[in-house]
Amino acid sequence: HQGHDMGNMGSTSSIPANSEAAAMFASNDTVMEVLTGNSFTLTAKESMLHLDDSTMKNAWTYNGTVPGPQLRVKQGETIKVVLKNELTEPVTIHWHGLPVPNHMDGIPGITQNAVKPGDSFTYQFKVDVPGTYWYHSHQNGVVQVDKGLYGSLVVEPKEQQPVDKDFTLVVDEWLKDESMAGMSHGGGHAGMNMSNTSSGNNSSMDTPMSDAEMMPLMYTIFSANGKTGAAIQPLLVKQGEKIRIRLVNAGFLSHPLYLQGHEYKIVSTDGQPINNPPLVSGQLLNIAPGERYDIEFVANNPGSWLLEEHSSNPGAASLAVPIVYEGYESTKPKAEKGDMPIIDITKYGEAAKSNFSLDDSYNIEYTMDLNTEMSNGEMAFTINGKTYPDTPPLQVKKGDRVKVKLVNKSPKDLHPMHLHGHFFQVLSKNGQPVSGSPLVKDTLNLLPGEEFVVSFIADNPGEWMFHCHDLGHAAQGMMSEVKYE
Ligand code: C2O
Ligand code: CU
Repeated sequence: HQGHDMGNMGSTSSIPANSEAAAMFASNDTVMEVLTGNSFTLTAKESMLHLDDSTMKNAWTYNGTVPGPQLRVKQGETIKVVLKNELTEPVTIHWHGLPVPNHMDGIPGITQNAVKPGDSFTYQFKVDVPGTYWYHSHQNGVVQVDKGLYGSLVVEPKEQQPVDKDFTLVVDEWLKDESMAGMSHGGGHAGMNMSNTSSGNNSSMDTPMSDAEMMPLMYTIFSANGKTGAAIQPLLVKQGEKIRIRLVNAGFLSHPLYLQGHEYKIVSTDGQPINNPPLVSGQLLNIAPGERYDIEFVANNPGSWLLEEHSSNPGAASLAVPIVYEGYESTKPKAEKGDMPIIDITKYGEAAKSNFSLDDSYNIEYTMDLNTEMSNGEMAFTINGKTYPDTPPLQVKKGDRVKVKLVNKSPKDLHPMHLHGHFFQVLSKNGQPVSGSPLVKDTLNLLPGEEFVVSFIADNPGEWMFHCHDLGHAAQGMMSEVKYE
């Protein structure tokens, strides 16, 4: 492990007192490896993933673990990552959320050739924007990311606001039954008899199950940092410590999360800071596919607590991360279920001046209607009625101010839309201006019927993907491009 630091679950700290804790955790073979410095090697290879003592998956990994090692780098540095491919299929690395030069974005067929088995590719770029990001293969993502080809990436700001513990939790879901793999994402909807019979109609009249209904029935094993249920490593804290948890969703489902016993602040979303965040209590933080949220709290309530998933999915109980104070046992705390509202991030944080407003003038105004349609008996996820590569690209010139209206017209499916190479500011939701902190994101979740207006400056020339991060939807059409003149 040349030049590698071991961290406890991705806990690294600038405070020396924690090296003791780190050393303790390093003896555990289930820790997340943290790599620091500016030169890294990530080797794509197969590895057996032990989700718990009895649940194993044949995973595709970077460096043998799911998630792959956390790359922890400093703002302003130029980093170099050598990708080696020891798999039997071509792979790439995409730096999700991080604005990199176009030719480093990891899009096979567009920004580079996919890296063939036995080959390697060197990524090199400057990391300018601090925050929590992640990396994943962008080759056949619906399969490769699902199998585990992802990891987290933290760009530390030049001026670090110190915390005592800095944890990262990468959440994901796994198929209960591997034989269902091919059926995911509408692949088999039309021909399958997983139809929704609750309508009472005869089989000939059955409506096929929507993707939104079927996916949660298939993906019922939830994981944090590659472990599920009782195998999830507790986050160890001491009274009085300031705790940061970086949440990353590498999966295909949304996860409403509840933190027991503590009020907390959401300090950033998709790595970008929220202005004066208020304390949250009694609410759920929903994290959609591709999104990140950093939360912070003071450990002021000694005991053993959970950060727990609150969806109605049968897998919800398998995602409960113990938070255990020094001197306490990780007894199984009780889940605190019950109706709780989900935080509306468009109303969160204190309003402040920002780069964009709804009534500014824009060089480009564009609408993307997102829909679920049947075409020739196949489920298609469309943008303006088309599937990729027939979706018309959004044409821009460097310097353009761009405004995009996103409308989810799917009756049941949600669409976490991700733009490569740029951050966008969210201006309105369902016609209501964002009333909280300027909301800057790279991945925005749209529930059925929702409509958002976002804007960005075209400041990073190239050819960039703009797609749904339910990677099944993307594979079945919901992708388009932002193309510079
Ligand atoms: Cu996280 Cu185009 O991807
Ligand atoms: Cu979608």
